Amino acid sequence: MSERVAFVGCGSWGSALAVLLARKGLRVTVWDGDSSVLRGIRETRHNPYYVPNLEFPDTVDVCDTLEECLRSASMVVIVVPAAAVRQVCAVAAPLLRDPAVTIVSATKGLEPDTGARVTERIVAALGPSAAQRLVALSGPNLADEVARDMPTATVVAGPSPQRLMHVQKAFSAGVFRVYTSADIVGVELGGALKNVIALAAGISDGLGYADNTKASLITRGLAEITRLGVALGARPETFMGLSGLGDLVATCSSRTSRNWRVGYALAQGVPLARAVDELGMVAEGVPTAQAARVLCQRTGTEMPIAAQVHSVLFEAQDPRKAVEGLMARPLREEVLPDPPSTASTSS
Ligand SMILES: NC(=O)c1ccc[n+]([C@@H]2O[C@H](COP(=O)([O-])OP(=O)(O)OC[C@H]3O[C@@H](n4cnc5c(N)ncnc54)[C@H](O)[C@@H]3O)[C@@H](O)[C@H]2O)c1
Repeated sequence: MSERVAFVGCGSWGSALAVLLARKGLRVTVWDGDSSVLRGIRETRHNPYYVPNLEFPDTVDVCDTLEECLRSASMVVIVVPAAAVRQVCAVAAPLLRDPAVTIVSATKGLEPDTGARVTERIVAALGPSAAQRLVALSGPNLADEVARDMPTATVVAGPSPQRLMHVQKAFSAGVFRVYTSADIVGVELGGALKNVIALAAGISDGLGYADNTKASLITRGLAEITRLGVALGARPETFMGLSGLGDLVATCSSRTSRNWRVGYALAQGVPLARAVDELGMVAEGVPTAQAARVLCQRTGTEMPIAAQVHSVLFEAQDPRKAVEGLMARPLREEVLPDPPSTASTSS
């Protein structure tokens, strides 16, 4: 019998991944906190609000309760906004005790008040032994493009090579190429923190600045993400990969990126609450900017771009003044991470 994969969260990204796996013949169950999402999928085989053009195969089982969704699943994919993970874990923890069950986080965000990564939050709920069964999935994967079968790559990271290979095989498809990494800290931080830089890229475009500005933001954004990541135990080279540079380029360049759109609106003078409200979907960069501030204070790390984004979001900083503030910083050497010592030639 084929593997049974349960999706906790069926918004844009949960839908795209669930359909990807179902089309491969895996048995998929989905649950979401919003019953209208579930009703829509069950009745129309589409998720009209989040990904209207994606058709759900009949084999995707829509569940009204989390218990039903998780029952007899051998793999569970958490794909709700980061702010919802604590609440979901509180309910799901007793149902996720089986050590055979692999738990994949496809969420890209950090808890705003603590800076906790999603897998840290899951370990807090399930206990330290759960760490071995955790995998984070992250990369340049805009849900709408994955739903339209546009080829892309992603990376799955975790401590257990067996679980990684298992998840790699489950998610790999003709249009979805999956790499593995042992650096779960780096992969999660790359996927979460790039959203803050995407807000900056949207602000830059909204102010009418051009490609030089955005390229500088992406490059220096990557440098400061790497700096914080290394301070938190990640490997510097991870940020050169799919979940770092790859996702930064996608999110900062795409006008469909939610964080880019919120940044663009802010630069047009739209207040934050209205920009987020009009988006109607999660923009993880907003809470992650708060988390980045917490983590920078804890580790004594400087993230000048993230700090300016935070002040635009929460301290009514004029976006143009934020850019001026970045340009006026003391001049310094461009310090880059050393290349990895054991270079591999395979790709
Ligand atoms: N959209 C993308 O392109 C994309 C790509 C990769 C990763 N991600 C990440 O995946 C995560 C989810 O993003 P999304 O795009 O699917 O968001 P979304 O806004 O499209 O959907 C979120 C879903 O989560 C559900 N939800 C919210 N709180 C819940 C709760 N407490 N309990 C149960 N369900 C709850 C909502 O009802 C909704 O269906 C985010 O961390 C995001 O950064 C998104």
